[in-house]
Amino acid sequence: MGKKRTEKIVFENVKVLDAGAKGVSVAKAPDGKVIFLPNVVPGDVVDVQTMKKRKAYYEGKAIKIHEFSEHRTDVVCEHFGACGGCKWQNMQYSQQLFYKNQEVYNNLKRIGKIELPEFEPILGSEKQFFYRNKMEFGFSNARWMTDAEIQSGTEFDNKNALGFHIPRMWDKILDIEKCHLQQDPSNEIRNEIKRFANENGLTFFNARNHEGLLRTLMIRTASTGEIMVLVQFFENDKANRELLLNFISERFPEITSLLYVINNKANDTLYDQDIKLFKGRAYILEEMEGLHFSINAKSFYQTNSDQAYELYKITRDFAGLTGEELVYDLYTGTGTIAQFVSKKAKKVIGVEAVPDAILDAKANAERNNITNCEFFVGDMKNVFNDEFIATHGHPDVIITDPPRDGMHKDVVAQILKIAPEKVVYVSCNSATQARDLALMDEMYQVTRVRPVDMFPQTHHVENVVLLEKR
Ligand SMILES: C[S@@+](CC[C@H](N)C(=O)[O-])C[C@H]1O[C@@H](n2cnc3c(N)ncnc32)[C@H](O)[C@@H]1O
Repeated sequence: MGKKRTEKIVFENVKVLDAGAKGVSVAKAPDGKVIFLPNVVPGDVVDVQTMKKRKAYYEGKAIKIHEFSEHRTDVVCEHFGACGGCKWQNMQYSQQLFYKNQEVYNNLKRIGKIELPEFEPILGSEKQFFYRNKMEFGFSNARWMTDAEIQSGTEFDNKNALGFHIPRMWDKILDIEKCHLQQDPSNEIRNEIKRFANENGLTFFNARNHEGLLRTLMIRTASTGEIMVLVQFFENDKANRELLLNFISERFPEITSLLYVINNKANDTLYDQDIKLFKGRAYILEEMEGLHFSINAKSFYQTNSDQAYELYKITRDFAGLTGEELVYDLYTGTGTIAQFVSKKAKKVIGVEAVPDAILDAKANAERNNITNCEFFVGDMKNVFNDEFIATHGHPDVIITDPPRDGMHKDVVAQILKIAPEKVVYVSCNSATQARDLALMDEMYQVTRVRPVDMFPQTHHVENVVLLEKR
């Protein structure tokens, strides 16, 4: 069975037909089965080698391109292909938008099975590169060798890397020279840290043996020009830690917030870590329409700040507020949407599970002199109950922006029970959004839909839907 599944077949002259979920393209094999292919563009004609055989489909890779699609464009990044980050970089941006829109439409139609209005045109991102405000890089002493490096036969003494995990290879890191996702000085900071660490013999993390000084690096930039840098160390080596942090601070005096963590636990997530301030302040400030939002190392903030502004404007427009409404902002994070719409509402109630985020939301509202927002912490399915509604009032409009899994069914049931006039549903996963919309279909009609692209060069897409009571 295992052998048959991995038996490799070559199909010649196959036309790539579509771009599917997860950023892989789709073709059809002569036997009628679907083939999933990375790094090709619909319209290409290619020879395919299958890598895996499943009951209903193959996973393959293009080994020769006979015809290039007219929708191709030149890639700008030297790491394209090996790096899992920007899978659609070889596809013209207009086509990326076409396939993102199609994915939302197909999900709402096939999973939601609901009646849909004509979509408002997908909103593309003005910046197609250097649009991210947050990047996380990993240190490794076992860098990933690209095909070209292996074929060159060059021996590398130093296998240290600072970059991204290779998809599905938990212990391999692709060394990055220039990433096109975050504005400068992101690349310079990362490369200078790597150079200094190598020159001074600071050790890079070994994920198999669990040893080494340097573990991860996070860089956050804001439209205000403020910069946050956080270095995560594995070993607790004060002398070398301070050597590196002093270097960073002197080499980049423009850093607003220089932080570090010593984490010798199995995983490298920051959420449960004690974050230490080395220099500056513990947060950076982001600005949107005159509002300021503080972002600390653990805060969630939409990763494309410019496009977040567009997303929020669409959300506010869909909500159609007059100044008289009581609005609930479910999954409020640090209360950004709540504060953004607050000028046009009587009152806004934000609910969120992460206590630190709610602390930020309250502090931000105070900083912004907003007095008509209140924030509450807890798991939505528990907090958003009858008693909560009785205490805080019956909402006229609910804005909801859940995580990728969508809303818990009890949360959907509660929305149906209190039946506000309007629900604005912002989603980063149109498949779970479609499931939730189907549950609300009897009471609500979908009257507006507008996908928004927050992540050019990737297959990810955000979608805003307005539901109005039938
Ligand atoms: C997509 S983010 C939206 C954040 C915010 N609306 C914004 O634009 O910045 C989803 C938020 O839901 C929160 N969350 C996840 N599961 C939750 C739950 N069960 N109850 C309450 N909040 C939850 C996450 O912590 C996160 O802040």
